[in-house]
Amino acid sequence: MYLKDDLSWRYAVQVFDSQATLSKNDIDQIIEVFRLAPSSFGLQPWKLIVIENKDIQKSLVPVSYNQAKIADASALLVLAYRKNIDEQYAIDHVENTAKTTGASLESLESYKNSLLGFVNNTPEEHKNAWAKNQVYLAAGVLVAHLAQQHIDACCMEGFSSADYDRILWLDAQNYSSAVIIPIGKRNESDLFSKSPKTRFSTDIISQRITS
Ligand SMILES: Cc1cc2nc3c(=O)[nH]c(=O)nc-3n(C[C@H](O)[C@H](O)[C@H](O)COP(=O)(O)O)c2cc1C
Repeated sequence: MYLKDDLSWRYAVQVFDSQATLSKNDIDQIIEVFRLAPSSFGLQPWKLIVIENKDIQKSLVPVSYNQAKIADASALLVLAYRKNIDEQYAIDHVENTAKTTGASLESLESYKNSLLGFVNNTPEEHKNAWAKNQVYLAAGVLVAHLAQQHIDACCMEGFSSADYDRILWLDAQNYSSAVIIPIGKRNESDLFSKSPKTRFSTDIISQRITS
């Protein structure tokens, strides 16, 4: 089985089965896959919020362009980026790297200096855009994992990030929501499940350079 077969199985679900549930293991695996996603400098400027609470999911529908799938999904994943990472964040990361790898702090000095150069010399706006890019990469990893596990999902940008940040207290923690993914089981009434995929042909989206 190739990943492409699972990616052909998946589609952006519009109607979820509101009765379906996910197991604790499903959620644990999702969190671990997110944790293992790669990031620039290894800085992991992100947080995954997993909401398995119908009341909270319902409260988010009005700030998600009234899309019912937010409430009907078995769970809602909110992928947030860490805002304006600073010197202390970078220093903590280097110390954690030393602890987990056994490397000495002296041997990590040039790594630390490049991190400090980045966090101290990059404008806040660019750092936030950079952090958001990292979250999108983790979202891609999650989409592949969900497809492989045959857990239905729909990546979404159609929501008010400011409202999510307020309702989920992300503001207070210095995070901001970037992308959300309702997950669960497709409802058989969802006509989109039967639609063929609209994709450009391989000669348009790829180029092979061999000589
Ligand atoms: C970053 C991102 C944001 C998206 N936002 C929404 C959304 O807000 N609502 C929605 O119904 N679909 C959303 N989609 C789904 C896309 O429309 C869908 O993935 C695309 O049309 C390809 O179709 P497929 O995923 O079924 O193959 C989003 C997809 C991505 C990757």
